[in-house]
Amino acid sequence: METATPRKVEHQQTDRGYVPVYATGVVEQPWSGYSRTDHEVWDTLFKRQCEMLPGRACQEFLDGVKKFGLGAGGIPKFADINTVLAKATGWELVAVEGLLPDEVFFDHLANRRFPVSWWIRKPEQLDYLSEPDLFHDLFGHVPLLLNPVFADYMQAYGRGGMKAHAIGPEALMNLTRLYWYTVEFGLIDTRDGMRIYGAGIVSSKGESIYSLDADAPNRIGFDLARVMNTRYRIDTYQQTYFVIDSFEQLFEATTPDFTPIYARLRDKTPHAAADVLEETDRVFHYGSHEGFATNADT
Ligand SMILES: [Fe+2]
Repeated sequence: METATPRKVEHQQTDRGYVPVYATGVVEQPWSGYSRTDHEVWDTLFKRQCEMLPGRACQEFLDGVKKFGLGAGGIPKFADINTVLAKATGWELVAVEGLLPDEVFFDHLANRRFPVSWWIRKPEQLDYLSEPDLFHDLFGHVPLLLNPVFADYMQAYGRGGMKAHAIGPEALMNLTRLYWYTVEFGLIDTRDGMRIYGAGIVSSKGESIYSLDADAPNRIGFDLARVMNTRYRIDTYQQTYFVIDSFEQLFEATTPDFTPIYARLRDKTPHAAADVLEETDRVFHYGSHEGFATNADT
C-alpha cells in the first residue's frame, strides 16, 4: 500500500516563506489507511528517541509517554490517546492535514484541542522534515499535555494568540517567538540537571543531543520580553535555548495581558538569534557560536 499523504491544497508565499497550505478542517484519523511503512517509520522514530531521552527529556515528558502507553507497536490511535487525555486534563487531539493558519490554530488551543497532522514522514525523512508530521506533533507535543500546568499554559497561549491576532502582525510575531522558544525549543533547569521539554527537540535525534551537549549554542534563563524580542532559526538547530526553572514559572510569566509588552517592543530592534545580552541575561552557558551563520534569522 502507498504511504499515506496529506491533501495539500497549494503552496503560498507567506511571511514564513513559500509553504504548503492545507485544508484546515478537522478530519478523522485514517488509521486503517496507514501502510506498513508508515507504522515502521513510527516504530523506528519511537525506539530511537526513547533510547536517548531518559536523562535528557524532563521527567514530566517521560511520564507522559508512559502514561499514554505510547510504544513501538505502530502508529497510535488518536481515540485511545484521547481517552487518557480527556480524563487527565480535558485536552483532546484533533486530526488535521498539516500546518494551520494562525487563527485556526489558536482557536483550537484556546478550546483545549491540539491539532495533530495525521500523516507521517517517509523513511528517507527520518532525520529532518521541514513541516510538522504526526511523529513531531504526537510524540513531541502530546505527552506534556498530561501535565496540568503545561496544559493550562497551552490553553492560555491559544487565548493570547487570538488577542495578538487582533492587535496586529508585530504582536503576533512576538507571540510566535514565545511559542518557538518554549513549546518547541524550551529547556528546563531541574534538580537533576538541564532537561529538554520542547517538542522540536524531543522529536529530533540530532537536536536532543545538540541542545544539551553542544558548546556552540547559548543557554539563557527565560525572560518573557527577551524571548519575544529574539529572532530564531528555522533552517538549523537553535543558536540560543531559553531555560525555564519550572512550568509554574512559565505559566505565571504568561498570565498578565501582553498588550503593554507588545507596545514596548514595537520600536525595538529584535535581538539576533545568537546574541547574548551581557547586562541582563542570566547565562547558563555562553555559546562558542562555532559554525553559526549570522544572516539567516527569522
Ligand atoms: Fe510543533
